[in-house]
Amino acid sequence: MEPNQHTAIITGATSGIGKAFAHRFAENGFNLIITGRRPEELKNVAKTLSTTYNIIVTTFIGDLTDPQIRLNLCNLIKETGKIDVLINNAGFGIDLPFYGTCITDISSMISTHIVATTEITHAVLPEMIRQRKGIIINVSSLGAFIPGLTRSMYLATKSFVHYFTESLSVEVRQFGINVQSLCPGMTRSDFHRNHNNAELEKKFELIKFMTPEEVVDQSLKALKKRRVLCIPGALNKLFFVIAKSLPLWVLQRISGFRNEESIEHTPVSVLPVIASVVH
Ligand SMILES: NC(=O)c1ccc[n+]([C@@H]2O[C@H](COP(=O)([O-])OP(=O)(O)OC[C@H]3O[C@@H](n4cnc5c(N)ncnc54)[C@H](OP(=O)(O)O)[C@@H]3O)[C@@H](O)[C@H]2O)c1
Repeated sequence: MEPNQHTAIITGATSGIGKAFAHRFAENGFNLIITGRRPEELKNVAKTLSTTYNIIVTTFIGDLTDPQIRLNLCNLIKETGKIDVLINNAGFGIDLPFYGTCITDISSMISTHIVATTEITHAVLPEMIRQRKGIIINVSSLGAFIPGLTRSMYLATKSFVHYFTESLSVEVRQFGINVQSLCPGMTRSDFHRNHNNAELEKKFELIKFMTPEEVVDQSLKALKKRRVLCIPGALNKLFFVIAKSLPLWVLQRISGFRNEESIEHTPVSVLPVIASVVH
C-alpha cells in the first residue's frame, strides 16, 4: 500500500475508540478526515497525528444531530472523492429511562446513531462501489443484544446500527467492500464522562474494561478475516453467547433488577448479575 494514497474518515475521533482508530490508520499512512464536537480536542488530535505520522488530517467540527452539519459532511465526502475507509463511530449514552429523558435528547440519539450512520454510509458508497473496494466499520454495542443492559433508546439505536450493517455487508460484498459491525463491551473512554472510569471499574470488578486500543486491535483482526460481527474481548463474547441462548423472559427478568433502582445504578448494573449466573 502506497503511503498517503488512502483516506479514512472517522466520526467521533476526539477521544476513545475513534481516536484509537485514527492512530492505527495514521500509522499505516492513511490521510484522515476526523470529526467531533469539541474543537480544541479535535485540533490537538489532528496536530499530533499529522506531525507524528506525516499525513494529511482534515478536521470537521460539528454536531451530527444537526441536519445541515450532516449535509456538509456528506458534501465534504463527495468533494474528497475516493474514501477507502469509513468508521461510523460517533455516539453517546444517556443513563436515564426512556420516560425520564427529554424528547430533544432522544431525537439527538436517533440522529447521531441512526440518521448520521445512514447518510454518511450512503455518501461513501458510490465511490467505493466504483473502486470495487472499501472498508466500513459501524460501531454498535454489546448492549444491542441484551435488553435492559443499556437504556432502551441506546439499545434500539445500536440495534439499528448492527442489523443495518449485517444486511449491508451482504448487499455490498459483491463490490469487494468489507463491512463490520463492531460491538464493544465496557471500554475506557470519555463515554462514561459522567461516571469516573476508575470508580466504575472498581464497582464492577468482575467486568474487564477494555482499552480503546484493544478494541481497535480486535476490530482490525476481525476485518482481515472478513468477519462481519466483531465482539472484542473473551468475556464480552461470553455475554453475547449467553444473551443469545437465554430466553427473552429470562433476560428481561435479570434486567428487571435495574428498574427497581434508579440513579445509583449505571448501565452496567446487570452485568455482575449475569456474571454470577455464569460462574
Ligand atoms: N465506551 C464504551 O463502554 C462503549 C461500549 C459500547 C459501544 N460504545 C460506542 O463506541 C463509540 C465510541 O465511543 P467511546 O467509548 O470512544 O466514547 P467517547 O470517548 O465519548 O467518544 C465518542 C465520540 O463521539 C463523538 N460524538 C458523540 N456524539 C456526537 C454528536 N452528536 N455529534 C458529533 N460527534 C459526536 C464525540 O465527540 P465530542 O467528544 O467531540 O463531543 C467523541 O469524539 C460510540 O458509538 C459508543 O456508543 C462505547
